[in-house]
Amino acid sequence: MRITTVGCGYLGAVYAASMASIGHEVLGLDVDQKKIDNLAAGIPPFHEPGFDELLREALDTGRLTFSTDYSLAADYEAHVICVGTPQQVDSARADLTYVHAAVDSLIPHLQDHHVVLGRSTVPVGTAEALVQRLRDAGVKSPLAWNPEFLREGFAIEDTLRPDRIVYGLPEDPAEAARARKVLDGMYATMLEADTPLVVGNYATAELVKVSANSFLATKISFINAVAEVCEATGADVSVIAEAIGLDDRIGPKFLRAGIGFGGGCLPKDIRAFMARAGELGVTEALAFLREVDHVNNRRRDHVVNMTRKALGGSFTDKRIAVLGAAFKPNSDDTRQSPALYIASKLSGRGADVVVTDPAANSRVHAERPNLAVAEDAYAAATGADVVLLLTEWDEFKQLDPVKLREVVGTPHMIDGRNVLDPAQWREAGWTYQSMGRP
Ligand code: UDX
Repeated sequence: MRITTVGCGYLGAVYAASMASIGHEVLGLDVDQKKIDNLAAGIPPFHEPGFDELLREALDTGRLTFSTDYSLAADYEAHVICVGTPQQVDSARADLTYVHAAVDSLIPHLQDHHVVLGRSTVPVGTAEALVQRLRDAGVKSPLAWNPEFLREGFAIEDTLRPDRIVYGLPEDPAEAARARKVLDGMYATMLEADTPLVVGNYATAELVKVSANSFLATKISFINAVAEVCEATGADVSVIAEAIGLDDRIGPKFLRAGIGFGGGCLPKDIRAFMARAGELGVTEALAFLREVDHVNNRRRDHVVNMTRKALGGSFTDKRIAVLGAAFKPNSDDTRQSPALYIASKLSGRGADVVVTDPAANSRVHAERPNLAVAEDAYAAATGADVVLLLTEWDEFKQLDPVKLREVVGTPHMIDGRNVLDPAQWREAGWTYQSMGRP
C-alpha cells in the first residue's frame, strides 16, 4: 500500500517506520523541516528503544521517505492523521488545531480513490466534523477512524503486534467498504496473525481509545487511593495489589502504586473526555474521572510533604537528589511528568535540587534551567540530605545502597515508585520510605 503519515511526532514517526518495515511505501509528512531532515537522515527526534534501528532499516529499503511537501500526497492512497491533540492551554479540552490543519493541508491533494484515516486521539464527534470539512471542500475520499494504543517504551511492539485493531467506519456502506479494503490491506500481516479486529462506527472507535486510557488511569488512581489508606493503617499496598491482581477479573497490571501517571496521554485524555462529556450534557457520567485526576495529583504533593518532613520541616540550604525526570522509564518524555513536577515544586520552595535521568537530562536542562542536572545517580546524590527515586529506570532499581551511602550527606531514601527492597536499604543504614508500604 502507499501510505502517508501526516505528522511525524512520536505516533507518526513510529507508525511510518513500522509500516515501511512490513512492506508498505510510506511518506512521512510534517511541517517541521528540521524534524523531517533529521528523520530522513535516520536521526530520531525522541528516545524510543529500537527506533533508531527500525528507522535506519526502513530508510535503507527505500520504502520510507520524509518530506514537508504535502503535494506529494497526491501519489499515495491512504493518508493517516497522526498529529498531536494536546490539552488546550486555558481549558481541559483537547486542542484540535493540528488535526484540522492536517486535513486542510491534505485537501488540495486528495483524489477520489484515496482514503483518509484518523489515528490521533480525539474527542468523540471529531471524525463526523472532519467528514463535513472534507465534503465542504468537495472531497469524495472516505474517512475512517483507526485509533492507536501505543505505549512509549514499547511503541514499535505495540504498532507491529497490537493487542487489537479498531476500525471506525463511515455509515454509508459503499464508503465503508472502500475504507475497509484499504485498512485490511494496510494491516494484512497483522490480521493474518490473528490480531483481533473490532469494527464500529466513528463515535465508537473514538470512544474506544479514550475509554481505554480512562480505565488505565482509573486503575492507577484506584491503587494509589488504596495506598493512602495503607499509609493511615500500616497495611502494605504492594501486597494488596499482588493479592487482588491474582483475581483474573482484576489482573495484576497497572496496579503499581507510586507517584501516579503522567505523560502525553493519560492526563490530557481523561480531562478531554470529561470536557467532552460536559459538552454532550453527560457531565455526571464521568464525574469520577475528576477524582481519578485528584488522587493522581495528591500523590505528587504527598511526596513533597514527605520530603519536607524528612528534612525537618524546612527546605532552606537543603540538597535534594531526584533520580528520574521522564514520566516513565525508557522514555525521555517529560510531559506531565510526576518526577519533574515534584523536582520543580521542591526547587520552588527553596531547596537545592539536583536531577538525573538516563535519557531526559538534556530536556530538563533546556526546559527547567532552575534545576541542576547531574550525570548519574552518584553525582546527583553526592552530599544530598535526601534522595528521591521518582522514575523507575533499571539503573536506579539496581543501585547499590552501600555504595550510594558513601556519597550522600544523609542516607534517607524516598522511593516514589516502590521499586527498592526496603530490607536491603535499611540494612545498609538508610532511612527508607515508600508509597503506601510500612
Ligand atoms: C498510555 C497507554 O498505556 C497507551 O495505551 C496509550 O496509547 C497512550 O497512553 P503511555 O503514556 O506511554 O501509554 O504510558 P503508560 O505505560 O500507560 O504509563 C502511563 C503512566 O502511568 C506513567 O507515568 C507510569 O509511570 C504510570 N503508571 C503505570 C503507574 O503509576 N502505575 C502503573 O501501575 C502503571
